[in-house]
Amino acid sequence: MNSDLIFDFTNVTEKAVGEHGVSDDALYALRERAATIDGDMKRRHKAGQLPFRDLPMQPCDDIIEFADRARGRFENFVNVGIGGSALGAQALFMSLCHPFHNLRRQSGEGLRMFFADNIDPDHLSGMFDVTDSSKTLYNVITKSGSTAETMGTFLLVKEILKKAVGVRWCEHVVITTDASKGDLRKIAASESIDDFVVPDGIGGRFSVLTPVGLLPAACAGIDIRELLAGAETMDKRLESAASMDNPAYLYAMYQYILDVNLHKPISVMMPYSNGLYGLADWYRQIWAESLGKKFDCAGNIVHSGPTPVKALGVTDQHSQVQLYIEGPFDKVFTILAVGQFRNTLSMKQAFRGIDALDYLGGRTIAELIEAERLGTVYALTANGRPNLTITFPEVIPSTVGQFMYALEVATVFSGGLYGINPLDQPGVEAGKIAAFALMGRRGYGDRAAAIRDCIRHDDRYVK
Ligand code: PA5
Repeated sequence: MNSDLIFDFTNVTEKAVGEHGVSDDALYALRERAATIDGDMKRRHKAGQLPFRDLPMQPCDDIIEFADRARGRFENFVNVGIGGSALGAQALFMSLCHPFHNLRRQSGEGLRMFFADNIDPDHLSGMFDVTDSSKTLYNVITKSGSTAETMGTFLLVKEILKKAVGVRWCEHVVITTDASKGDLRKIAASESIDDFVVPDGIGGRFSVLTPVGLLPAACAGIDIRELLAGAETMDKRLESAASMDNPAYLYAMYQYILDVNLHKPISVMMPYSNGLYGLADWYRQIWAESLGKKFDCAGNIVHSGPTPVKALGVTDQHSQVQLYIEGPFDKVFTILAVGQFRNTLSMKQAFRGIDALDYLGGRTIAELIEAERLGTVYALTANGRPNLTITFPEVIPSTVGQFMYALEVATVFSGGLYGINPLDQPGVEAGKIAAFALMGRRGYGDRAAAIRDCIRHDDRYVK
């Protein structure tokens, strides 16, 4: 079976959805800019300024060896990290492991996976309740080596481990952080904790193909060589395509025209697959954090950025689709389709003569979800709602690798269209600094008063 991802842009066009769609002229008008951005990306890649583009070709033997040992030794893997230090690994786990992986793990198979990203104390306590720390490997991941949520959870982990295994607590921790910068690097060195490196110049949301995503994936039992091979296949496909034929660039250009020219600032990603839902979450971050910017590259205030939203097919047909089809014309939809599910599930004929069942008997659940998906595509298109479909022939490491890599390239290309820097995140950093100040971190405390003053209550508005 050909396992190349299929990008179908038919229904974002004016021909399919009328005035709310993209005309050939509007797309053609971006031709020169596309060529310039493409040239610029190639130049920056050559100059080592886009290191995420080299990741598909990297060796990963050290990660596989570490994961093999961990799978023999532990039962659980806890991913302590947030944002780009969690979402990629979570998306890989959701799409490529059994949907109930943690309940059915046999000894020696992929470790049970837990994601300690949010710091809801009840959620974290619950996780500690169900994971025997003496059988758990904790992967503390933070590129900056200082994110408060991750460092705080690390303190909890250390204490729990010290109680459970004493001085051997370090053997239950692996650190993934910058090669030289940050406080976590200092701890890895002083305590001789196993570590992996987040390569220079790769921000969290572009790091899924570094140890940040690969180590958890390998520990979960995912074939990371196939994942990287998929990314490499996509890299070759994108490199050899002309700009106006390049699926990642076209994805970016259609979305850009729909946002900026046609006033559809909401970009909904709707997988018809529970497993692919994590990819929609990952997309939400890479699209939002990369493109939501106050300043353009020339320093002008632009406040750019579409709003990515996730939805789940079929579930959200019974929750959101009413709005999508009859509400404001402010959205573009990316439907994720699965060519062949791992299971098809036949429905056996029963209760003959009952209309609500007769047509289902003898068919499969896979056919039903496909009919539901096509029904939504039809309803969107017939109601003038631009939508495109990306089909995964199968959900396997290679297609997931293709998808993530293509979307990373599309994100950077979009940055060129919006004229902003897609690789920084000053808004996120501002939030981190505010948390440091409010918690009294050395060197930040003097900002706390100003922050509290800005968010103080006005009794007239508090009931
Ligand atoms: O994409 C990003 O850069 C961010 O979302 C980070 O991944 C997130 O803030 C966590 O940062 P760190 O890995 O430094 O803890």
